Amino acid sequence: IFQMIQLFGLLDCYSHSDDAAAEEEHVELFTTPTTKMGAATSDFGYNLFRALASRDASTNIFLSPISVSEALTQLSMGASERARAQLYRALRYHTLQDPQLHNTLKDMLASVRTAGKGLSTAARLYLARRLRLKQEFFGLVEQQYGVRPKALMGGAKDMKEINDWVSQQTGRKVQQFLTQALPRAAGVNAVSAAYFKGKWETRFGQSGGLENFQVDGAAPVRVPMMQQDNYPVKMGVDSDLSCTIAQIQMQDAVSMFIFLPDDVTSNTTLLEESLSAEFVQDLSMTLLPAKVSLTLPVLRLSYSTDLLPLLGDLGLSEWLDNPELEKISAQAAKLTSAHHKVTMETAPEGNQYPSETTPSHLTYRVDRPFLYLIRDETSGALLFIGRVVNPKSLTI
Ligand SMILES: *[C@@H]1O[C@H](CO)[C@@H](O)[C@H](O)[C@H]1NC(C)=O
Repeated sequence: IFQMIQLFGLLDCYSHSDDAAAEEEHVELFTTPTTKMGAATSDFGYNLFRALASRDASTNIFLSPISVSEALTQLSMGASERARAQLYRALRYHTLQDPQLHNTLKDMLASVRTAGKGLSTAARLYLARRLRLKQEFFGLVEQQYGVRPKALMGGAKDMKEINDWVSQQTGRKVQQFLTQALPRAAGVNAVSAAYFKGKWETRFGQSGGLENFQVDGAAPVRVPMMQQDNYPVKMGVDSDLSCTIAQIQMQDAVSMFIFLPDDVTSNTTLLEESLSAEFVQDLSMTLLPAKVSLTLPVLRLSYSTDLLPLLGDLGLSEWLDNPELEKISAQAAKLTSAHHKVTMETAPEGNQYPSETTPSHLTYRVDRPFLYLIRDETSGALLFIGRVVNPKSLTI
């Protein structure tokens, strides 16, 4: 039995059904180059998340899409005009009309990686030496993104070198990036990784106690939870999606959105389908402040996957067959892997204690499968996204 939140229907303040009305009132949500770039990288991220979520139904999944955007953008610098346009479409850059696209992305990456936000990312291309690589490409990417692509020697040393670099870029938090050596025939490899350590604005009191977390179709599991009364959040009920949404403020203009389905279900397809930069931006403007008794699982997780098989789902099948990486090599170079690994931790610590007021009767108890996302409020960029089906099986 889980506790339901009764918010007098007041917070059910937006609707998906009235498309015509929405069209009429359409206002441009993203107006600056940075917020447009934030929206583009987020929409790419939601598409990637959906592709992964539908492939691995009913499992925990986690991504840091912004690091994938960075790796694929570096790759686009090596493509022909035609192939670059295909990549830009998948990356959602075709809507930007930004002649300074690379600089906008570079500035946005620098701003979301400032120390207080708790995110570190790594994105780099590793290229097989046998492709007889064009040296100008190395300089081009390094000059723009401060990361020099690396030629692979084609042996066991490559794996150690990649793993050491990722570890170093993420403050030793993303370890063992590759667990097996790249195949001999490896060509172009896009590496992306991220570490996120959530820092709440308001701290949690009780923490670490084991409590029940409901699992779809199985017995509840016991996981460490953190709890705090009178916790300030922004909240809303979405009756179309049958879920309650809470936005929890983190330090340095970062926030976490939690989408908690009303029922214990690992099928969050409907919810996943609705995610877009515009939807989340709308949410952030319609959720209402509330003080709640908040209970969250203490998350410590690590997740890795090769995203290459998903890129076809993002409209890149044709590009994968013929990527025209003519600025990288005169030979027919192909993308042969897109490994991605993330590590994330949340802890009860925060800047301040909640104010002492009469205890609120509202309860928000995240004790069943949920989706969450971490967003940079300044740019709107999606930093991290995850689906927690069973926190017991999360490992670092
Ligand atoms: C999950 O839910 C969606 C929409 O609610 C439905 O179409 C789909 O069949 C469900 N999938 C499974 C595996 O039950």
